[in-house]
Amino acid sequence: MAVGIFDSGLGGLTVLDAVTKALPDIDFVYYGDNAHTPYGVREPDDIFDLTCKGTQRLFDAGCNLVILACNTASAAALRRMQESWVPKDKRVLGVFVPLIEALTERHWGDNSPPREVAVKHVALFATPATVRSRAFQRELAFRAVGVDVEAQACGGVVDAIEEGDMILAEALVRSHVDALKRKMPHPEAAVLGCTHYPLMEDVFREALGPEVAVYSQPQLVAASLGDYLKRHPGMVGMGETSQFLTTGNPRKVSDQATRFLRRKVEFQPA
Ligand code: DGL
Repeated sequence: MAVGIFDSGLGGLTVLDAVTKALPDIDFVYYGDNAHTPYGVREPDDIFDLTCKGTQRLFDAGCNLVILACNTASAAALRRMQESWVPKDKRVLGVFVPLIEALTERHWGDNSPPREVAVKHVALFATPATVRSRAFQRELAFRAVGVDVEAQACGGVVDAIEEGDMILAEALVRSHVDALKRKMPHPEAAVLGCTHYPLMEDVFREALGPEVAVYSQPQLVAASLGDYLKRHPGMVGMGETSQFLTTGNPRKVSDQATRFLRRKVEFQPA
């Protein structure tokens, strides 16, 4: 029984960690495309091709359901994949919708017209490709009216995290928060719209200040996946062991993942 978790690199481990804790009876197969990270500076066609390749590898590993634990892939490729590529007996889901449902206080399947919500000023921190796609604003507009979104493309943060340079990552996060605050001095909520960013969540929270509610995806995605699997038990595939696959250097990626998850993780070549 396995569900696939796809990311461009290490960021999806934040989602993997949350879903493993929330759903201990399910095996997960993780695919990190570390050889091609970061996706955030790539063109949509390139992101589509790489995401399809990784997702196919997860289908081949026995997964019927793949979670794109990558906002960049969810923003730039998911809709096209669902419309033109995903086989009928498989499902691919993204990480945007659970976040937006939480922000707009909606439950799954609530398709009522967009309405006013409590938050009016939202800061979005994401990769350049996610910001460019405007997928967040599009999904939000289906559910809420009157919300002002200021997006900050956080160039360099993913590269620094992938390289394990947390000092650089911290400096970049602080400067991106400053840049955001120059455009929107008093956001009520901030969305960490990249699965790498929960690894820097404390820095974001400190730089934003206590009055800003920070929405981070891993727990929201885990709750939403649990709910989805209750409604679609058949989507748990036939794969029978948890595995970690990477297109990068397995030893280097295993070391970094072990440090992030604070438990031994062994990646194999994808
Ligand atoms: N962690 C991914 C995301 O959620 C991708 C970052 C990247 O590869 O640029 O956007």
